[in-house]
Amino acid sequence: MLHRTAFRQLARAAMVHPMNVLELTGTGLDSLTFTERASPALGARDLLVRVRAASLNYRDLAIARGEYGGYARPLVLGSDAAGEVVAVGSRVTRFAVGARVCPIDTPDWIAGAPDERTFEKRLGGPADGVFSELLCVSEDAAVATPAHLTDEEAACLAVAGVTAWQALFVLGQLCPGDVVVVQGTGGVSLFALQLARLAGAQVIALSRSATKLARMKDLGATHTVDTSATPAWDSEVLRLTHGRGADIVVDVAGGDALSRSITAARVSGLVVALGFLDGASSTLDLPAAIRRSVTVRTSSGRSRASFEALCRALTSGGVRPVIDRVFEFARAPEAFAHLATGAPFGKIVLRVGAEAR
Ligand SMILES: NC(=O)c1ccc[n+]([C@@H]2O[C@H](COP(=O)([O-])OP(=O)(O)OC[C@H]3O[C@@H](n4cnc5c(N)ncnc54)[C@H](OP(=O)(O)O)[C@@H]3O)[C@@H](O)[C@H]2O)c1
Repeated sequence: MLHRTAFRQLARAAMVHPMNVLELTGTGLDSLTFTERASPALGARDLLVRVRAASLNYRDLAIARGEYGGYARPLVLGSDAAGEVVAVGSRVTRFAVGARVCPIDTPDWIAGAPDERTFEKRLGGPADGVFSELLCVSEDAAVATPAHLTDEEAACLAVAGVTAWQALFVLGQLCPGDVVVVQGTGGVSLFALQLARLAGAQVIALSRSATKLARMKDLGATHTVDTSATPAWDSEVLRLTHGRGADIVVDVAGGDALSRSITAARVSGLVVALGFLDGASSTLDLPAAIRRSVTVRTSSGRSRASFEALCRALTSGGVRPVIDRVFEFARAPEAFAHLATGAPFGKIVLRVGAEAR
């Protein structure tokens, strides 16, 4: 590795600016390392974005721990960011210098259904991600930041927000009055709660913490279930819905909890299986699932069209993401350790480049 001073001299000679990135060099949180790279080269249809904020997702933690992806190292993690356009390529028409933007995490997914090539350039694995001071993204792979949000808030949208949007409105076709079950108090689940309430649906919120459930109630949850006191939460969902079950269960736990999601869903209901917090494999009671004719649908990634639809909804509803804590970029390893405790309520955000402002 080049000595820092030598790197800066070489970078100056080549007319590029060194920028700080957070690289994952191996496996485990100990292998998160700050390093300098040359700023990215700008293509004719690219935007150079100065990152102002980025947020952590469970995916970043799972990749760092070697539990997901198996992507080549060194890898810059991070899929969620917000920033300001500081330069544009000669053929850019969608944004101008000074625009506030959020990159989309799956740059080749504009609209419609994904195919086998859609995920090849996904930010934060396999492609380098957003935990970086500067980013070069195609103008097609960014959306305008909703004007009512700060950069810290906007940096929560690309993954957690759009995933919740897709689960409820693209896959789930949610209607007012429908019942949605959300699991836990992480990024995806809190967005699912806020968006479902915005659409006039009822929400049954699950958490392992009574304190966090009180906060879910403040955010609008119709009912709450403490899963540490009521492990058979599927029966409780049936009781609360007078035996009907939920229209949509947003399942982020996976593992054997997936079976409960199926029994908590109404006949012909939908379980959107998004995560694996409780385990990477599940044993299912197939007769129960078949009897209830439940659709279990996995989902990965998000389109720009969904991101733009989410931004319109947040703007018209004046909805703001729930942030647990903001860390300075230099303290990113601490932010990862905080995420790993499972204690946060909402998103963990990194403030990037504050000293340069
Ligand atoms: N498929 C996709 O496109 C996609 C997109 C985003 C996220 N995901 C996945 O969805 C999951 C959640 O992501 P996130 O970023 O929202 O996570 P997060 O912010 O880290 O939140 C996780 C929350 O889930 C609850 N939880 C933790 N362990 C649990 C367990 N064993 N059983 C039940 N609940 C548990 C906790 O809430 P309480 O303390 O309140 O119980 C915790 O705060 C992850 O598996 C992630 O990989 C998938």
